[in-house]
This record gives sequence, C-alpha cells and structure tokens, in this order.
Amino acid sequence: MARKGNKTGEWARRHINDPYVKKATSQGYRSRAVFKFKEIDDQDNLVRPGMVVVDLGSAPGGWSQYIARKFGDKVTVIAIDLLDMEPIEHVHFIKGDFQDEAVLEAVDKLLNGRKIDLVISDMAPNITGVRSVDEAQYEGLLDSVLYFCECRLKQNSHLLVKLFEGSAAHYYRREVKSRYKSGVVRKPGASRSKSREYYFLAKNRTP
Ligand SMILES: C[S@@+](CC[C@H](N)C(=O)[O-])C[C@H]1O[C@@H](n2cnc3c(N)ncnc32)[C@H](O)[C@@H]1O
Repeated sequence: MARKGNKTGEWARRHINDPYVKKATSQGYRSRAVFKFKEIDDQDNLVRPGMVVVDLGSAPGGWSQYIARKFGDKVTVIAIDLLDMEPIEHVHFIKGDFQDEAVLEAVDKLLNGRKIDLVISDMAPNITGVRSVDEAQYEGLLDSVLYFCECRLKQNSHLLVKLFEGSAAHYYRREVKSRYKSGVVRKPGASRSKSREYYFLAKNRTP
C-alpha cells in the first residue's frame, strides 16, 4: 500500500511541475496532450479550413479545443469518447464507444453524406494488468480504428494514431502503410521520453 501511495505522490509532483501542464493551464487548455497535437499539426500542416475531422478518444478535449480555437466553424469536428466531455463551441460531441453501432449511426448522421478528411486518435485501452488481455484489447482497438477509416474516409485523407512500442504496433504500421501513400512516426516533445507511446501519421489514403 505504501508503495502505491509513494507512486501516486510521485505522479502528482511530476504533474504539478510539468511545464506542459503549466502551459496548458495558463492558456486555458484542458489537457497537456494539446501540445502533442499542436506540434504535429505545426510540423505536418494537418488541419486546414473546410475539413471534416474526427477526434477518437477526445476527452477531456485538448485536441478538439485546439482545432476549434484555430479554425472556429471553418472545420467540422466530431469528437467521440467513452467519458463525458464539457461542451466546446464548434465541436460535435458523441458520448460512447466509437465501435458501437449507435455511435457510428450518430457519426453518419452528422456527416450527412460527407466523408472525413482526417481521423485523429489519442486512445489507449484500459489496462487490466493481464498482459494477454491487454494486448488483445489494444489490437482490437487498433483494428477498429482502421475499420472506421475504411468506411468513412475520403481518398487522400489522413490518419494520426497513438501507438505503443511493441510488435502489435510494428504490424499495425505495416497494415496502415499499405493503405496510404506515406507513413511517418512522430514523437512530440510533450510525449514523455520514458513513455512507450508515439504517434503514427499516415498521409494520403489510396483508393
Ligand atoms: C489520453 S485521453 C485523450 C486526451 C485528448 N486527446 C485531449 O487532448 O484531451 C484518451 C481517451 O480515449 C478514450 N477512449 C478509450 N477507448 C475508447 C473507445 N473505445 N471509444 C471512445 N473513447 C475511448 C478514453 O476514455 C480517454 O478519454
């Protein structure tokens, strides 16, 4: 128990002293994650006026907030999360699992025949601690992201997805790459160097 307490204290101390947390708070952003997306967007010029963007695993809302602040109603943002999210002006929020039929129907209703230009996913599965279960859940989640893109993305659209180092991610990158013209790895400054997470950006979906 004591060890758990120490770990929580360590996390809280690191969180309070984190420059990205301070920056997010001072700029009125809901999460430090916003700076991961901002850095990738600055480098790759991902979001442009007129686009339809789907933010998978959007809560608390940093990424959606960033796009809405930058583009207002010039970009359509559909944000989806299992958890509640405080409303953001110009962002359509759907609460639920993006794999559920009801959520997919709500997305299609909002799209109203339009196709998506960009899918961004910062999702990670809930960790149970049982390795085989966690890996299966992670792979299932990644497959569902690909399936979601298959059905709704425009030709030449892009996908930005969070991955964790390991063989599943390696295999997944190959899978994604075969469907897009290019794929690059991004590890933004706000993504802690000790963390196994990184982002994979696939550009220009092929027919
Ligand atoms: C790291 S947070 C996202 C942070 C967000 N990018 C931001 O800037 O505030 C990951 C989110 O993914 C959500 N998530 C995980 N699996 C999901 C699923 N199957 N469907 C919808 N949301 C999911 C979690 O509820 C969590 O809120």
